[in-house]
Amino acid sequence: MSEPQPIYLSDYRPPAYRVTRTELTFDLDPAATRVKARLHVERHPEHEAGVPLELDGEQLNLKAIAIDGQALGEDEYAVGEAGMVVHRVPQAFLLDTEVEVAPDANTALSGLYRSSGMYCTQCEAEGFRRITFYPDRPDVMATFSTTVIGDAATLPVLLSNGNPVERGTLPGGRHFVTWEDPHPKPSYLFALVAGDLEKVEDRFTTMSGREVTLQIWVEEENLDKTDHAMASLQRAMAWDEQAYGREYDLDLFMIVAVNDFNMGAMENKGLNIFNSAAVLTHPHTATDAAFQRVEGIVAHEYFHNWSGNRVTCRDWFQLSLKEGFTVFRDQCFSADTNSAPVKRIEDVSFFRTAQFAEDAGPTAHPVRPDHYIEIGNFYTLTIYEKGAEIVRMLSNLVGEEAFRRGSDLYFSRFDGQAVTIEDFVDCMAEASGEDLGQFLRWYSQAGTPEIDAHGEYDYANAEYRLVLRQRTPATPGQAEKQALHIPVRLGLVGTKSGRDLPLTLDGEALGTDAVIHLREDEQEFLFTEVSEAPVPSLARGFSAPVKLNFPYGREDLAFLQAHDSDGFNRWDAGQRLALLALDDLIAAHRNGVEKVMDPRVVEAFRAVLAARIDDKAVLAQMLTLPSEAYIAEQQPLVDVDAIHAARTFVKQSLTMALRDDFLRLYEENRSEVPYAPEPEQIAARSLKNVALSYLMAIEDEAGLEFAQAQFAADHNMTDVRHALTLLVHGSRGDIADPALKAFGEKWAHDPLVMDQWFSLQVTRPQADVLDRVKFLMAHPAFSLKNPNRVRALIGAFANQNPVNFHRADGAGYRLLADTVIELNRLNPEIAARLITPLTRWARFDEARQELMKAELERIRAEELSPNVYEVVEKALA
Ligand code: PHE
Ligand code: ZN
Repeated sequence: MSEPQPIYLSDYRPPAYRVTRTELTFDLDPAATRVKARLHVERHPEHEAGVPLELDGEQLNLKAIAIDGQALGEDEYAVGEAGMVVHRVPQAFLLDTEVEVAPDANTALSGLYRSSGMYCTQCEAEGFRRITFYPDRPDVMATFSTTVIGDAATLPVLLSNGNPVERGTLPGGRHFVTWEDPHPKPSYLFALVAGDLEKVEDRFTTMSGREVTLQIWVEEENLDKTDHAMASLQRAMAWDEQAYGREYDLDLFMIVAVNDFNMGAMENKGLNIFNSAAVLTHPHTATDAAFQRVEGIVAHEYFHNWSGNRVTCRDWFQLSLKEGFTVFRDQCFSADTNSAPVKRIEDVSFFRTAQFAEDAGPTAHPVRPDHYIEIGNFYTLTIYEKGAEIVRMLSNLVGEEAFRRGSDLYFSRFDGQAVTIEDFVDCMAEASGEDLGQFLRWYSQAGTPEIDAHGEYDYANAEYRLVLRQRTPATPGQAEKQALHIPVRLGLVGTKSGRDLPLTLDGEALGTDAVIHLREDEQEFLFTEVSEAPVPSLARGFSAPVKLNFPYGREDLAFLQAHDSDGFNRWDAGQRLALLALDDLIAAHRNGVEKVMDPRVVEAFRAVLAARIDDKAVLAQMLTLPSEAYIAEQQPLVDVDAIHAARTFVKQSLTMALRDDFLRLYEENRSEVPYAPEPEQIAARSLKNVALSYLMAIEDEAGLEFAQAQFAADHNMTDVRHALTLLVHGSRGDIADPALKAFGEKWAHDPLVMDQWFSLQVTRPQADVLDRVKFLMAHPAFSLKNPNRVRALIGAFANQNPVNFHRADGAGYRLLADTVIELNRLNPEIAARLITPLTRWARFDEARQELMKAELERIRAEELSPNVYEVVEKALA
């Protein structure tokens, strides 16, 4: 096999032929499904007559082909590995093909496959070419009519996009349904589902008064797990009307829960397909975090109906056009529905940990990449989350009103079209009058910009001079970086008053909270009439996806943590303070010196507890230490053992000093009221569980008793799982083991709960965990073929158990590589994603680097899918 070749954005050409209408008939069979396709094809006027017709097609068994009813002779077309070419075609014609595909042999879960007996499809990005020969690119948009034929007894439900227009019975116990989707769409939004499913139904009345039927289709045993998704969908539909003026455009909106799914969910027109983990919830099976995740994903997929479906991407390099914008939309929706400051803290914590690491590693790429080998590898934190941060900056730059005018313009101007990121940014520029030329570099430049800031207060002249210097480190293929347009929201907090001081810049009064624009490599900002010495609060609300370094002293940070008017930066000051103390402790651990707790951190925590912050969710965040992964992200060289030891030491020291406060918090926030996934309840539970984590850090009697009682009370999964995790991660096997066993037996029938059971065991820090991972891989509830199981067991071990994954003997790496090698054959997309932690080898000591690279080499020696090939090549480049 020849090496997979990259494709380039600069090679983009509009298609020579368009398909205006697509008529499909599926005759379902596990081993040999027949797919008939009739395509209404036209040559684009700007292309010359005689251009051959190129169709994508993979793993298709061609049975028949005809143009305008005339079967083609063998010399009139050529079929290859990746598709077919028809040498000569008329200007406008009907193309009929018939192919056979094998859903049961499809373990990659792309194209048509079976999951728990039901048929389903996944077409984004390039799965449709595994269903039929087609110009499988998003700039070809057609109306679809789909007839699904299946066995009436085993497949009573037959679904596709749009509205059902005809149904009937057929000989041999078969039946059919025909669906018509009036909205032209690219092939990646096609979907089909067939199975023995039950539905929950509700309604939504749109702002113009149209009635929409909402359906959630699930396996019968999950009928009691759909309430939250349905309520979330209704909230999302109302929110999109109110926030963006966007209304749903079909009479029917369906969601289907599927057990085997590579991603979270998929926005197929009128028929969203969800990973069951992203839609099913029940107080006894799903945690608060899962409830919130479901709400966010249901909204995300629904919002795609406009940002993605009505207006779609011209080509896959523009993926962030729909994903960045839609993530921004779902983040705003969740912020409006829950605690906005906590939503921001959670999103930024995650972003700074995971996206920063991606941007600093060998797979770093711009938000709009300029080349790729396998687009499936580009569903990344950079495309999604950094893309969303860019849209957020745009919204802040032009202001909320202009942003809304810009988005209205975008949706109306490009409705029904496949467009580019420039088209989107141009709308924002037009609506606001802003020059966004330099801003566009955010899309083409990879890597996390760093801003080195320093400031000086001049008492004599009452001036504060702030100097900001930006640089973006080199990333693969991009040695030289240009200066970005970075909006820095800031305040100057007076050290005497503890208040935001009025900001005057170049004679202009800006209020007490303002945005300054960093455009040059280095810029100086001179604030005048600054009446007292300030501590600057910079990049408030994480106003740009950058690393901002300022030489804060610990007193400054404690001061900001107590006084900053920006909730996000108040939290961040606490994180920075903890990180400084952790740095010392990490060094102490490495040098074998006795660890001494910094009293300033204890006092800062005491002050937070005394401040009686009324948003409990915020308080819980302020009491949470930076994660091991985030601490690692700050270190020049990652020492997983030192980080773990230092963080554990801080937790224990804090508990010793503040035990009574944690006891009080725990007791004050216990509640017997029936579970509801509502913000106040979620906040109280998170605060209570943070307190319990501290108490369990020293495993004193009270902590152990609370944890055991909380587990035994079996009130809701949030509390049960948290208590069980603390027990299992602790040292008291005599208590933890029976609890774990009871839990595993109780939930053996529920795969989504078993996933949690797997994860909480394989993330325990104890040294024997690798054996447990291997043991659990043989558990009847585990399967390498199911992506959720793989993520819950192998993914959790490799990504959330740094001490054990990075064992000095390399056994953790070996286990991951073995799994990747097996998955490379079964499911390349999942295999490629799983490699991520190995690609980060440069961050570790030399011995570990060698071990990690050796495993990557071992993978490279296999016959690789393009997905895994691309990642491994980059990692070893
Ligand atoms: N487009 C989906 C989303 O973000 C994600 C997805 C990509 C799902 C590829 C499946 C395959 O909403
Ligand atoms: Zn999306």
